[in-house]
Amino acid sequence: MRAASKRNPTASSDAEGPLLRTRLPGPQAKRIVEQDHRYISPSYTRSYPLVAKRGRGALIEDVDGNRFLDFSSGIAVVATGHCHPQVVRAIRTQAAELIHMSGTDFYYPSLVTLSRKLSEIAPGAGRKRVYFGNSGTEAIEAAMKLARIYTGRDKFIAFTNAFHGRTYGSLSLTASRPAQRRGFGPLVPGVIHIPYANCYRCVYNLKPEDCGVHCARIIEEQLFRTYVPSDEVAAIFVEPIQGEGGYVVPPPEFLRELRRICDRHGILLVADEIQCGMGRTGKMWACDYAGVVPDILCVAKGIASGLPLSATISRAEIMNWPPGAHASTFGGNPVAIAAALATIELVEKKYMENAARMGQHLMERLQDWPARHSLVGDVRGRGLMVGIEFVKDRRTKEYAPEQRDRLIQLAFENGLLVLGCGVSTLRLLPPLVVSRKQIDIAVAILDRCLTRIERETAA
Ligand SMILES: Cc1ncc(COP(=O)(O)O)c(C=O)c1O
Repeated sequence: MRAASKRNPTASSDAEGPLLRTRLPGPQAKRIVEQDHRYISPSYTRSYPLVAKRGRGALIEDVDGNRFLDFSSGIAVVATGHCHPQVVRAIRTQAAELIHMSGTDFYYPSLVTLSRKLSEIAPGAGRKRVYFGNSGTEAIEAAMKLARIYTGRDKFIAFTNAFHGRTYGSLSLTASRPAQRRGFGPLVPGVIHIPYANCYRCVYNLKPEDCGVHCARIIEEQLFRTYVPSDEVAAIFVEPIQGEGGYVVPPPEFLRELRRICDRHGILLVADEIQCGMGRTGKMWACDYAGVVPDILCVAKGIASGLPLSATISRAEIMNWPPGAHASTFGGNPVAIAAALATIELVEKKYMENAARMGQHLMERLQDWPARHSLVGDVRGRGLMVGIEFVKDRRTKEYAPEQRDRLIQLAFENGLLVLGCGVSTLRLLPPLVVSRKQIDIAVAILDRCLTRIERETAA
């Protein structure tokens, strides 16, 4: 990436941080955004006009030569940072040898290598089997079908604010935003949603210290007693940390209680680790924090540092469906697999540990924000999956989406890329390679922008 501009007085000389050379969007970016609006599906949700050209580590350069600090990781995808040299080398080598053959009809060695690796690193002992797709939603679709065919049951339990994807099966489990569902019904029948363990906004008005995870126990105590026969439930789908729904971290006992309920009733527990897995939380899987072993694990996003790949992993005896039951032409593409093998090696060797250390540093830097910033209601997260929830009033916890959105905009104007989630939460999810200095730069930008918004709000 280019060095600091001598002509631009606002340019930072710090090679690890942002460097803005033009007003945003710059002339090239403006032109591309205009064309994009003509040709690209308007269903995409862009918060600001970042037009990316190249990336390295936690930095992105746009088409006008502006450099941004990326605390979005392409929505939790570039685990090893943008264009990690080891990942790039693996992709290049594989692309020169074999790009595609389709694992659904033919064999190739790397398919086995990655399956074996995933079988080893997925929670729980014993051999597992892997189904490969290309995206998170495909991993969920596979899990839904597998759960139905294995159990012979047709119902699913999922949670409010959950996000599992946008194709019909996964959309039926998703409940994080009306726009995702409006106009698309009827969805797949048989999904029952109950409130997630959101202790900051407990719908039962209980306190985590003595609630006995009522939100999980309600499944047996109310659902199964009143209207859902437990022997019709195939699976409970849960994000061990809710992503799009607001970066909500449940108490470990929540997942443990779900596990107990599933065991008691012959229900499969499906952990959607598509956003929170692959070392992002400082452990390989977020469910490791609760010591819970799911029956089916869904992985995507960070698994291949940007190449499309997803995996649905289950104990071998569960994934026992007949030939033809499920498959995808591109799933487990050799180039994506090469990227995944390189990614997993890097994450295991150093970046998961970095995520734990940098995550702790980030949380320490944000610790006093609820006391210092009147708009901050809650700061929460694990590792490099951190959410800041904004409220207009800390007592009533009234959501502050306008202020959150303004902060995202101002951060962009200051060279920091962040995203929202939930109703009024800001999520910080830098690549796992992020440095201490980059975290300090990002926190300083957010601090400055937020102080400005609070002054504007008070005026
Ligand atoms: C937890 C979770 N599940 C599933 C998905 C869907 O993944 P994809 O967009 O790759 O289909 C996402 C995407 O944001 C996610 O965060």
